[in-house]
Amino acid sequence: MPGDDPREGPVLVVDFGAQYAQLIARRVREAHVYSEIVPHTAMAAELASRRPAGIILSGGPKSVNAMPAPSIDPAVYELGVPILGICYGAQLLTQQLGGTVDRTGRGEYGRTRLTVTGASPLFSDWPESCEVWMSHGDAITVVPAGFVATASSPDAPVAALHDPDRAIFGVQFHPEVVHTEHGRDLLERFLYDVCHCPPSWTHTSIIESQVAAVQTQVGSSPVLCALSGGVDSAVAAALVHKAIGEQLTCVYVDTGLMRANESEQVEETFRRQFHIDLVHVKAADRFFEALAGVTDPETKRKVIGELFIRIFEEVARDLVVEKGNLDESPEDEPAGYLVQGTLYPDVIESGSGTAATIKSHHNVGGLPDDLAFHLVEPLRLLFKDEVRAVGEELGLPHDIVWRQPFPGPGLAVRIVGEVTSERASILRAADAIVVEEIRKAGLYRDLWQSFAVLPTVRTVGVMGDGRTYAYPVVIRAVTSDDAMTADWARLPYDLLERLSSRIINEVEGVNRVALDITSKPPGTIEWE
Ligand code: XMP
Repeated sequence: MPGDDPREGPVLVVDFGAQYAQLIARRVREAHVYSEIVPHTAMAAELASRRPAGIILSGGPKSVNAMPAPSIDPAVYELGVPILGICYGAQLLTQQLGGTVDRTGRGEYGRTRLTVTGASPLFSDWPESCEVWMSHGDAITVVPAGFVATASSPDAPVAALHDPDRAIFGVQFHPEVVHTEHGRDLLERFLYDVCHCPPSWTHTSIIESQVAAVQTQVGSSPVLCALSGGVDSAVAAALVHKAIGEQLTCVYVDTGLMRANESEQVEETFRRQFHIDLVHVKAADRFFEALAGVTDPETKRKVIGELFIRIFEEVARDLVVEKGNLDESPEDEPAGYLVQGTLYPDVIESGSGTAATIKSHHNVGGLPDDLAFHLVEPLRLLFKDEVRAVGEELGLPHDIVWRQPFPGPGLAVRIVGEVTSERASILRAADAIVVEEIRKAGLYRDLWQSFAVLPTVRTVGVMGDGRTYAYPVVIRAVTSDDAMTADWARLPYDLLERLSSRIINEVEGVNRVALDITSKPPGTIEWE
């Protein structure tokens, strides 16, 4: 957090598009230096007000010679803050400071050999020649006044440059990608030797600063958190509990559509291990009643979402009245605080940089106005891998911290057709076998999601002496980085064989197992 030393501010990563900035910001944090992403439209004075220790100009999908090409306020070069331009960032600073970037007609894409040709504090750990990752069509051909070229590659005469007086650096290659042999060293030299950042951003320091921030934000007000069994709400709850103890009440609604043992695990972890005040609402009957006869996927989601809100609202109203200040708080003032597991990528994508008070129905979906909440978002500065690390540090079980994503409507979107208690039980039993065997095979963490699906059809089979007429179960396992696209996982045959025989033998009502080999697009990950 900023103090008297101007170097105590974050390293700011200026975003020129296409997710390049997120990877750079994560690499900076992996070097234990706090970084934040800022849009390239931010003015120099705005950046200076953050008292940054350093500024990194990210890569971007455009050419600096395109019209229009994203640019940055040139006054940043006069701030006296060290700057590192990467790929597009290097070309942009070259062009803005009076050098030349040309379309040479010979770009470099992928692994490229780089030769260090001049002294630079960034290359102090580098051999004279090594492999780097390039992705450029344009090339820097003339460096600006005051700069020296310090590296070259076959098609980039200036693959690195710097101005020693102003501590401005540019590299044409991508130090943030793993294929660049000494990329991590280069970023560390910039952060530690040029920006003089201490490596003090650790999971312990994240917890300490968020605990303090939550205490300051909520004072003595009651705080509610809806637990889903997923990693984000679990880590957020554990962190807030560390900050304010008994002021926190967690609400877990068992919809009857959870995975096997999920409810027991939530009870065990939060009530017995963390001693958190947990309201466990067992509402399976209400959900199955509301879902009777519903087969349309979107109607299912709507029915589940609305009932969830109604139940949460009932519990929240009781709790706020019992523990809090509903009667004392002025009209129009939120009655309490609600914890949300918002993560940094959501914050970047929504373009909102500041903490907000939002009526809870914008997020949870329709609480009445007198129950509007201030939001507590203790994970809003963290990437998913940091959330997991913080969860482990807080002592949450491995099973929760490394759990695969699970949709809000639960098993309902994996039960094609009508959702009944019986069909949910069949699917839950089959799903538990899928998860168990995938874990045993050591594949659980490599897969984005792996689960079972229950279609509506039934097929004929033969078991023992008799014919059966029962459901097939479909196995769905995918790899993905962000769920926007996904590929079906090539599971080993012996694993598939175990899955098939265990599911058919152990789950009553199932006589066949099929495998979904559809990527996304054209398929979605879930079946509904
Ligand atoms: P699809 O099936 O659209 O899913 O490829 C992409 C990711 O989103 C999850 N998903 C949901 N999550 N509510 C949620 O909270 C939903 O209604 C929902 N539908 C899909 C899905 O599990 C996958 O990770």
